Amino acid sequence: MNAEKLLDFDNNPETEYYRHDMNDAIRHGMCVSLLASSLARELGLSDEEVHEVAVAGMLHDIGKLQISPYIYGRKEATLKIEEMRYVRLHAKLGAEILKTQRYDSRIAEIVLYHHENYDGSGYPFCMRGEEIPLGSRIIRVCDVFSALISDRPYRKAFDADTALVMVIDEVRHFDMKIFLTFQKMINTSDILKRIDSILHDDLPEFHG
Ligand SMILES: [Fe+2]
Repeated sequence: MNAEKLLDFDNNPETEYYRHDMNDAIRHGMCVSLLASSLARELGLSDEEVHEVAVAGMLHDIGKLQISPYIYGRKEATLKIEEMRYVRLHAKLGAEILKTQRYDSRIAEIVLYHHENYDGSGYPFCMRGEEIPLGSRIIRVCDVFSALISDRPYRKAFDADTALVMVIDEVRHFDMKIFLTFQKMINTSDILKRIDSILHDDLPEFHG
């Protein structure tokens, strides 16, 4: 397929799913970035650290670009073992991309560990507790919540109240102090309005 045809999203059914997946991926990155940077501020991190978390939140899944044929355009909820193996590489691939692009090493590190769980059940290194960098622990809870309140090709989004209950079910994966601050932030600020706008507002009309 030539580049011109690839870019002709509106008239090309073959590229339709790229548009949907790109749309979902970018909006998800914006959500995680907003939630995580706001949470970092609530937790009293410095301006510099808040900025690092914001950038890492936006780019945390950038490693999926390298494995996109295995994960985008999917309609099924479950991954085959082989596909799971590729998907699990995305944290390491993302950190490599950011290092190659000379992002701050702390941002690359947050991305590398963003799927580690507090109880040691995450990947790629099964790290546990405070071994996991603070920024990664912050992104972990925001990432799970943001995924739950987003539509997926195989299921509709959960509402925020349901998502909060579902996140409680997974609380062993999270740093408790971070989780409680997250819960308070969601319940007491207007951040959900901003998240709703990121996820659902139409883009301004484009007159090319
Ligand atoms: Fe991820």
